[in-house]
Amino acid sequence: MSSLEISAVPAATTWTAPAVAVIVPTFNERENIALLYEKVMTALGSTPFEFIVVDDNSPDGTAALAKEMAQRLPNMRCLHRLGRRGLASAVCEGAASAAAPYIAVIDADLQHDERILPAMLARAIDGADIVVGTRYAGAGSASEGLSVMREQGSRLATQLSSLLTGKSLSDPMSGFFLMRRALFDKVAPGLSAEGFKVLLDIIVSATRAHATEGLPLTIAEVPYTFRTRHAGTSKMGPLVVIQFLGLLLSRMTRGVLPTSFLMFAMVGTSGLVVHLITLAITHDGLGFTFAYAQLAATLVAMTTNFVLNNALTYADRKLKGARFWRGLITFYLVCSIGTIANVAVAANLFAASHALMLSGIAGAMMSVVFNYSVTRILTWR
Ligand code: GDD
Ligand code: MN
Repeated sequence: MSSLEISAVPAATTWTAPAVAVIVPTFNERENIALLYEKVMTALGSTPFEFIVVDDNSPDGTAALAKEMAQRLPNMRCLHRLGRRGLASAVCEGAASAAAPYIAVIDADLQHDERILPAMLARAIDGADIVVGTRYAGAGSASEGLSVMREQGSRLATQLSSLLTGKSLSDPMSGFFLMRRALFDKVAPGLSAEGFKVLLDIIVSATRAHATEGLPLTIAEVPYTFRTRHAGTSKMGPLVVIQFLGLLLSRMTRGVLPTSFLMFAMVGTSGLVVHLITLAITHDGLGFTFAYAQLAATLVAMTTNFVLNNALTYADRKLKGARFWRGLITFYLVCSIGTIANVAVAANLFAASHALMLSGIAGAMMSVVFNYSVTRILTWR
């Protein structure tokens, strides 16, 4: 539609165009969203905003409550996602559904101090590309809401990511940020949908996008005190940490290797360890013949690989119930064909080159790439 046609669309008489969209990813946050809405409204004062809850079909009925609220609040909306899980993709889809010129992302559990939203918006209007609510710089403090372990881990992750972005940000792990929607829309197609660290991903992508135009990316920071969670429990766990490592590795290869491929390869490596342990137990411990011990080890390793990939690599589309078993069968089948491909490639290469290690590695790579590509289509589609 051209701008001429858009201006021909009549504006609603009771409508005030939102200046900022507040995106709230939720999973089991029923007890928090009404209070958050109220606090955001108070904080933003006369600034018109839209409030978008992105809920992954939480068992506690967060989405139902959000829709009930939206019945009464014209600036509130609920994006109710079915069959999917994940903070990063929730944030991306919420932001992609926003109409306001600026988007802000804030946790639902009241850990982020909504009172700095006006200051964040002001910095963005002043020209900052991305404004981060930070827990460490200046007056901000993390000690209130984070355990000692979490705080150490968070500092380490901060250092790792400054290596990646080449920027010394005090809190690139923050889940609290604000940016121009146009910039988000520009980088959105290339963002990873996996894991927790969407801000880091946005910064890396936006830095590259700007660099190709010879422009620096300006990032502003607004400090705040990280509060303790209001109601409910955190969804951060070991899974999130592993996914973060996957994202870091993926971004180091400039996204050539997707996070899920690197996770798949990491799981495959763990499968090798499982294989060797099972081989030792069944052969030396239980007295299986080598062929049977090798068969048992292969089955056990394939099974643990499947379970781990289902929980980690494809946490966003985890197979459950009957789909779990159907997935397991297709995984066995694909991996068996992958093994044939592996042996064929390695044998041909060895015949031609007589390079033992090289042929072995090429064969193994062949099966990782094959298994990854095919199970992505057949098993976790
Ligand atoms: N839609 C959706 N889907 N939302 C989710 C999911 C999901 O799978 N997982 C978590 N959320 C929502 C939670 O409901 C909450 O509103 C927000 O994302 C943050 O989740 P928490 O479980 O409270 O995470 P945290 O407090 O341990 O860590 C958060 O704060 C840190 C400090 O700002 C995250 O935002 C981290 O990324 C951040 O570093
Ligand atoms: Mn939290």
